Amino acid sequence: MLPVATAMPDDTPMFDPSILHELDWSENTAVFSPSISPSEPGDGLVMRPLCTADVNRGFFKVLGQLTETGVVSPEQFIKTFEHMKKSGDYYVTVVEDTNLGQIVATATLVIEHKFTHSCAKRGRIEDVVVSGECRGKQLGKLLTSTLTLLSKRLNCYKITLECLPKNVAFYKKFGYLVSEENYMFQRFFN
Ligand SMILES: CC(C)(COP(=O)(O)OP(=O)(O)OC[C@H]1O[C@@H](n2cnc3c(N)ncnc32)[C@H](O)[C@@H]1OP(=O)(O)O)[C@@H](O)C(=O)NCCC(=O)NCCS
Repeated sequence: MLPVATAMPDDTPMFDPSILHELDWSENTAVFSPSISPSEPGDGLVMRPLCTADVNRGFFKVLGQLTETGVVSPEQFIKTFEHMKKSGDYYVTVVEDTNLGQIVATATLVIEHKFTHSCAKRGRIEDVVVSGECRGKQLGKLLTSTLTLLSKRLNCYKITLECLPKNVAFYKKFGYLVSEENYMFQRFFN
């Protein structure tokens, strides 16, 4: 029997990076001072799709500042990454400090396909987090603004997210409204 090839982390992006840079940034509703954009996020910073090599650039260290990440092996990470990439509906986006070779912020846009609204698409913003030492540098705003515009560019009829009451004011900057609907959940595992 031939040995099973073990996938190695590499720089293949989860999605085509050009879609981030081709967004119409003039449609952004948040205020950026100084001005930054998806193509120019700041000195020594790059905004781009996640790649598997980011597992060695502190991706989980940043995610761990949002919630419990658990123990994830490189194999599990690559398997989930490949699943997301193949589906074409996951836009896991990161900001890298290229001087440090470290991920300093991340956010995800997930596209959900519906039969309703004439087989429409709905966007969901998930897992927005900026590393502690980089907060207040507009990176949270940059990621949220970019993924909101991206959902529009991908023809989503609406975009939603869940957040704690203390973060409502942050998301209002991008045009989000507080829904009258309740967010309900059941937790099966931690
Ligand atoms: C919330 C978070 C993503 C914001 O990112 P950030 O890079 O620190 O914020 P930015 O520098 O992009 O934006 C700063 C602006 O947002 C405002 N802001 C930042 N955090 C805020 C919050 N929690 N609530 C309301 N406003 C907030 C600031 O007042 C500032 O406003 P201004 O542009 O009008 O001056 C970041 O604090 C974070 O990672 N928090 C922990 C994880 C988390 O709670 N994520 C959200 C999950 S729903």
